[in-house]
Amino acid sequence: MSFPPAFLEEIRNRLPLSGVIGARLRLVRAGREFKGCCPFHNEKTPSFYVNDDKQFFHCFGCGAHGDVIGFTMRNDRMSFPEAVESLAGQAGLQVPRDTPVEREKFDAEKRLLQLLDRVTAWFEEQLFAPGGREALAYLRGRGLSDDAIRRFRLGYAPNDGQSLLRKMTGEGYKIEELAAVGLAKKAEDRNEYYSFFRNRVLFPVGDRRGRTVAFGARIMGEGEPKYLNSPDHPLFHKGQLLYGLSRARAALGQGQPIIVVEGYMDVIALAEAGYTGAVAPLGTALTEDQIQILWKLLPAPDNREASRDYSPILCFDGDNAGLRAAARAVERALPLLTPAQTLRIATMSGAKDPDELIRQSGKSAFDAILKQAQPMIEVLWNNALENRQLRTPEERGAFAAILKSKVAQIKDEQLRHLYHNEFRKRIDDAFGWKPREFVKREGFGGGKQGWKPSLPTPNLVRRSPSNGPRIMEKILLALTINHPALFDEFGEEFARLQFQNADYEQLRQRVVEILSDHHDGPLDPEGLYRHLSEAGSEVLDDILSDHTYTHAEFARAHCALDQARKGWVSIWNKHLQDQLQSDLQEAKRRFKEDGSDESLSRLNALRAQIETMNEAASAMDDKA
Ligand code: UTP
Ligand code: MN
Repeated sequence: MSFPPAFLEEIRNRLPLSGVIGARLRLVRAGREFKGCCPFHNEKTPSFYVNDDKQFFHCFGCGAHGDVIGFTMRNDRMSFPEAVESLAGQAGLQVPRDTPVEREKFDAEKRLLQLLDRVTAWFEEQLFAPGGREALAYLRGRGLSDDAIRRFRLGYAPNDGQSLLRKMTGEGYKIEELAAVGLAKKAEDRNEYYSFFRNRVLFPVGDRRGRTVAFGARIMGEGEPKYLNSPDHPLFHKGQLLYGLSRARAALGQGQPIIVVEGYMDVIALAEAGYTGAVAPLGTALTEDQIQILWKLLPAPDNREASRDYSPILCFDGDNAGLRAAARAVERALPLLTPAQTLRIATMSGAKDPDELIRQSGKSAFDAILKQAQPMIEVLWNNALENRQLRTPEERGAFAAILKSKVAQIKDEQLRHLYHNEFRKRIDDAFGWKPREFVKREGFGGGKQGWKPSLPTPNLVRRSPSNGPRIMEKILLALTINHPALFDEFGEEFARLQFQNADYEQLRQRVVEILSDHHDGPLDPEGLYRHLSEAGSEVLDDILSDHTYTHAEFARAHCALDQARKGWVSIWNKHLQDQLQSDLQEAKRRFKEDGSDESLSRLNALRAQIETMNEAASAMDDKA
């Protein structure tokens, strides 16, 4: 059952939490809040707080937390839809139903995903069958290990245009379903279908959760077109997905950089060399959507390690087409840059791609390229300088005008000013106002020597560490380990978290890694536990302990998935709210202190974020 987020919001707005809870237990006013004895654990002195402004309750004794819907579910032992229904009645609201049309669409998509997975497996079988001998030799000949072939689920589509269709229709799929995802095509001249991919090696393209939604198919050897790609369909939009995305997400958590390359083979070669954060667009130029997707993988700015540069590195081929592609990507990213979302550009020399470089010269050659990745400020400066003389005032004016027009495209006001100031300073330095510094900043156009940070480190405000999240971290881990099926739904959010406790963080990364890598149906909890305990079970025992379960009964292994899911949603909401609220308090404090525009804009940004987050939280409730 799903409810529109706006409807859930309406319920929360109409029913003051203190009213609903106050009808069940005695509450007394405590400042702007109410407090009482917690109904969810046994206590004599009140540690249960109700906050109408924030629309949530919180127990400092047992960690119980939630909104009016969560309270009703728990206190009145109702399922999510039951609670919503009951509260809607109290609020005098009509419950909107999810439509049969939506339900049907959902089921149809599920079938298509199954079909795509079956086809992936069938192509894999063909590669290792006698008919795939040439294809397998081709892939091995390009330096791929059988292990890599299996890991990326590479396959082979036989030359025969009917065998796939026969096989899949034999399994109960309709030819129209094969056609709907671009696997079957109708002949132009007769009423007959044939397989779209024939006699090619196949690269299955996973969606953000790693489920195959499309294929790239390479001809073996020379020929045109080199690659055939699945056409767009309801589950696949080329411009909104990247090859390798689900792996890259896990890699990011392991400290790997996100590297954007051009081709399928580059992604695989890099992953084989240990750069598991490599992704590639799918036969088109890098789109704005794709850049945004990469930025969204990154942890929130407050959760980033100060010493780590998270910005994705573009590493396109060293030929002219590659350079042009990089330049276009820079143009596309420019308006979207913020202090927290930017790019770096690494330039390959010669007409090579990362795959060839690594095969010919080894990983260290690629390490060197990455090390020289330049931040946007250098890229813009060097691009503006390209083939330009700066001898006359006119030439310098033209140069300054180009930089100015680039900077003007940056929408983020703060960053635009910073770029503006930096370029102004460099130009002032360079053009003789301070002659001595001109000498220092030698090498116009010398962008290729690698970038040395020259900017002063800004004064950053650190978050104060708190113990509060510890139990939440334990609960989320226990939930995921006992109910890996939750990862299908919440994996994306879970992967983007960063835990404060180092042991838990390490375990979280390991869980993400295992579950993201696992694509053959749901992994059972035993299997996951076995994988995890390979590295020792001390932390695991701590997580899967009574201490965790007294705070969260729903995290137990024997608890129904449905309960676990609800538990997840409530914990998740709490986590987001807590984080934002503490950020907000900090921002308010700062603004009071310094009254600066910067603090104000941070404060406003947070307020906006809290609003969005509330919508997101309702959407998440909605899923439960
Ligand atoms: P490249 O031509 O650089 O190929 O295309 P590649 O990835 O290095 O492949 P190999 O090493 O020759 O096997 C880069 C990407 O552009 C898309 C594919 O996604 C490819 O990986 N492309 C290329 C197509 O979609 N169609 C084509 O005909 C060629
Ligand atoms: Mn290549």
